[in-house]
Amino acid sequence: MIPIFVLFLIYSTAFCARVPVCDSTNSNNSFIYCEGPILEAVNYHQLYNDSKTFVDMPMKQNPQDVLNAFNLKFQNSTAPEKINKTDLQTFIDQYFSAAGTELIQCVPDDWKEKPEKLATIKDPQLREWAYKLNGIWKQLCRKIDPSIEQHNSRYSLLYVPHHFIIPGGRFREFYYWDAYWIVKGLIASEMYNTTRSMIRNLATMVNTHGFVPNGGRVYYLQRSQPPFLSAMVYELYEATNDKDFIAELLPTLKKELDFWDQNRMINVTMDNKTYKLYQYKTASNVPRPESYRVDTENSAKFGNDTARQQQFYQDIASAAESGWDFSTRWFSDHLTISTIETTNVIPVDLNGLVCWNMDILEYLYEQVGDMDNSETFRSRRADFRNSVHNVFYNKTDGTFYDYNVRSKSHNANFYTSTAVPLFTNCYNTMNTGIVQKTFDYMDRMGAFTYPSGIPTSMIQNSEEQWDFPNGWSPNNHMIIEGLRKSANPEMQDQGFEIASKWVLGNFKVFYETGHMWEKYNVIGSYPQPGSGGEYDVQDGFGWTNGAILDLLLTYNDRLFVPDNFINTTSTSTTSTTTSSSVQTTTSSTTKTVASFSVLLFTLLVWIFV
Ligand SMILES: *[C@@H]1O[C@H](CO)[C@@H](O)[C@H](O)[C@H]1NC(C)=O
Ligand SMILES: *[C@@H]1O[C@H](CO)[C@@H](O)[C@H](O)[C@H]1NC(C)=O
Ligand SMILES: *[C@@H]1O[C@H](CO)[C@@H](O)[C@H](O)[C@H]1NC(C)=O
Ligand SMILES: *[C@@H]1O[C@H](CO)[C@@H](O)[C@H](O)[C@H]1NC(C)=O
Ligand SMILES: *[C@@H]1O[C@H](CO)[C@@H](O)[C@H](O)[C@H]1NC(C)=O
Ligand SMILES: *[C@@H]1O[C@H](CO)[C@@H](O)[C@H](O)[C@H]1NC(C)=O
Ligand SMILES: *[C@@H]1O[C@H](CO)[C@@H](O)[C@H](O)[C@H]1NC(C)=O
Ligand SMILES: *[C@@H]1O[C@H](CO)[C@@H](O)[C@H](O)[C@H]1NC(C)=O
Ligand SMILES: *[C@@H]1O[C@H](CO)[C@@H](O)[C@H](O)[C@H]1NC(C)=O
Ligand SMILES: *[C@@H]1O[C@H](CO)[C@@H](O)[C@H](O)[C@H]1NC(C)=O
Repeated sequence: MIPIFVLFLIYSTAFCARVPVCDSTNSNNSFIYCEGPILEAVNYHQLYNDSKTFVDMPMKQNPQDVLNAFNLKFQNSTAPEKINKTDLQTFIDQYFSAAGTELIQCVPDDWKEKPEKLATIKDPQLREWAYKLNGIWKQLCRKIDPSIEQHNSRYSLLYVPHHFIIPGGRFREFYYWDAYWIVKGLIASEMYNTTRSMIRNLATMVNTHGFVPNGGRVYYLQRSQPPFLSAMVYELYEATNDKDFIAELLPTLKKELDFWDQNRMINVTMDNKTYKLYQYKTASNVPRPESYRVDTENSAKFGNDTARQQQFYQDIASAAESGWDFSTRWFSDHLTISTIETTNVIPVDLNGLVCWNMDILEYLYEQVGDMDNSETFRSRRADFRNSVHNVFYNKTDGTFYDYNVRSKSHNANFYTSTAVPLFTNCYNTMNTGIVQKTFDYMDRMGAFTYPSGIPTSMIQNSEEQWDFPNGWSPNNHMIIEGLRKSANPEMQDQGFEIASKWVLGNFKVFYETGHMWEKYNVIGSYPQPGSGGEYDVQDGFGWTNGAILDLLLTYNDRLFVPDNFINTTSTSTTSTTTSSSVQTTTSSTTKTVASFSVLLFTLLVWIFV
C-alpha cells in the first residue's frame, strides 16, 4: 500500500494549485463565467466565433438555477463532446440574453458639439475631423443600470457607478490602460466631468478589489494592466487645477501602487547587486474565458503535461496584463507563441511607468501640501530611477531593453517600449546623452522610415498584433511625447514628423473606411487597419481617437493636410467643402515654410556640433 504522503507528493509535483480567473471570493457566478461545464461546452461546440461573446451574456435567472438547469438537461455531463450542439444553443438562448445588453448607451452631460479648444486647430479639414471624433464620444459612452448593483450575480459585468467611454467593438466595457488616452481626448474635448467619472470608476475598483482590473468583467479579476491611473489624475489636474479632486484620489493612488509593490515585485540580481523591479505576473493558470478556445487550442501542444499547460496559461494571461497581447517580446524564440515566458521578462515599459507613478505622487502630494509623503516618493523615485538605469540600459547599444531573468540578458530586439523611460522622464535629466543615444538607436533601427508611424517591432512573420507592421496609438503617442518633451530640437522635430505621419495616416484611413481603428499597418504608401493576433481588428476606437485629438491640439498650428492627400472621389464619410480646399492651399504653403525652417535649423545644428 502506498502511504498517503507519497500520493500527495506525486499529486503535488504533477499539478500546481489551479488558480481560476475568478472564484467565490470575488464573484457569485465564477462557475458560469470563469470556469465550469457550460463555459467548456459553449467553446467546445464553438457556438460563437469569439469566445468573449458568451462570457459577456447576462443570465435570465440566478447562476445556481442556470447551472442546475444545465445539469438536469444534459445529465450532469462534464464531457462536452456528449452534448448535442443544437440542444446546447437552445439552452443558451433560453437562459442567456445577448452580449452586452446590460450596458446602456448615453450622452455625456458635458458633451458639446464644438468644444472651443478644438476650434484652435488651424487646418480646416483636420478641425472638421476633430469635431467628428468628438461626436464619436456619444457612440462610445456607456452606463450601467443601477438595478444591476443589486442583482450583480446575473452579470459578468463589474458594477461601476458612473458613465464611461469604452474602446469599442468587442471591448464593450471599461478598460484600464485604454482609459489614459481616452482621458487625454476627453480633456481635449473639454469633458472634465466625464474624465472625473472615469477616474472615479477605476478608483472604485481599487477600493473594492485592491487594484484596477484589466477591464470591467469578473474574468479580469486576476490581472491588471499598465498602471496609468495616477497619470490620468495628473493630466486632469494639469487641465483643471482641481486640488480637491487630487486630495480625494491620493489615498487610492497610493493604494494602487501598494498592489504593484506587494504582488508584482521581483528581486533582480545583476553584477552582485539586487534591484527591486516590477513585472507582469498574474496568479491565474487556466485558459482566459474571453479567449478560451484560442488558449486551449494553443496549449494542446503540451499534451497531458498539466504543469506545462498551467505555466503556459499563466504566461499568456500575464502578457495580457501587459496590454501587449501578444508580442514576440514575451516569446523566448522571439517568434512563436508556444515559447511564451512572460514571467521571466522584466519589462522596461512597466518599470518606466512605475517610476512615473512615483514622480506623479511626489508632485501631487506636494500640491496638496503633504510634504512628508511627497518626500517619501521623491526619494523612492530617485533610487528606483537608478535601478531602471542599471538593469535596463544597455551601454553597448545605447538604449533601454527588457531584461530576462532566465537568460540573464537583454532582449536586444527593437520594440517601441524602448522609449517609455523617455516619455516618463525616468532617467537622470542631467544625463542628456541617454536621450540622444536612445534617439540615435531608434533612428539606426529604421523606426523613423515608415510612412504612417512607428511599427511596434521589426519582427516580421510572427503574426502577432504587437509586432511589425502594426503601429498602435499608445506607442506612437508616447514616443512623440517623449521626443517633444526632450530639450533637443532635432528630437523635437522628429517628434513632430512622427505626429504628422501618424495623424495623417489615421486621417486617410478614416476617409477611406469611415472608421477609426484600434491599430494600423504603418508600412506602404497607403495605411490600413492593422491585422494579426487572436481576434479581428476592432473599430471605435477609444484610445485612437483620444491620441489623435491630443496631437491635433498639441500641434494645432503646425499640422496640415497636404494637397491631394485624400482621394476625394472615394470619400465615404464627408465631402470636402470649397472653403477647406481654399484653406488647404494656404496650409501647405505654411507647411513648406515650416519644413524649410526645420531643414535650415538641422543644418545649423549640424554645422555647429
Ligand atoms: C454574493 O451574493 C451575496 C448575497 O446575494 C452578496 O451579499 C455578496 O455581496 C455577493 N458577493 C459578490 C462578490 O458579489
Ligand atoms: C465565424 O467564422 C467563420 C469562419 O471564419 C465565418 O465563415 C462565419 O461567418 C463566422 N460567423 C460569424 C457569426 O461571425
Ligand atoms: C446530477 O447530480 C445531482 C447532484 O450531484 C444529482 O442529485 C442528480 O440526480 C444528477 N442528475 C442526473 C440526471 O444524473
Ligand atoms: C440534436 O438534437 C436535435 C433535436 O434537438 C436533433 O434533431 C438532432 O438530430 C440531434 N443531433 C445529433 C447529432 O444527435
Ligand atoms: C459637471 O459636474 C458638476 C458637479 O456635478 C455640475 O455642477 C456641472 O453642471 C457639470 N458640468 C457639465 C458641463 O455637465
Ligand atoms: C526581495 O528580497 C527581500 C530581502 O532583501 C525580501 O524581503 C523580499 O521578500 C524579496 N521579494 C521577493 C518578491 O522575492
Ligand atoms: C561578485 O562577487 C563575487 C564574490 O563575492 C566576486 O568574485 C565577483 O568578482 C563579483 N562580481 C562583480 C561583477 O562584481
Ligand atoms: C502523457 O503522454 C505520454 C505520451 O503521449 C505518455 O508517455 C505519458 O505516460 C503520459 N503521462 C501521463 C501522466 O499520463
Ligand atoms: C547589450 O547589447 C549587446 C548587443 O546587442 C549584447 O551583446 C549584450 O549582451 C547586452 N548587454 C546585456 C547586459 O544584456
Ligand atoms: C480614388 O478612388 C476611386 C474610387 O474608389 C478609384 O477608382 C481611384 O482609382 C482612386 N484614385 C486614386 C489616385 O487612388
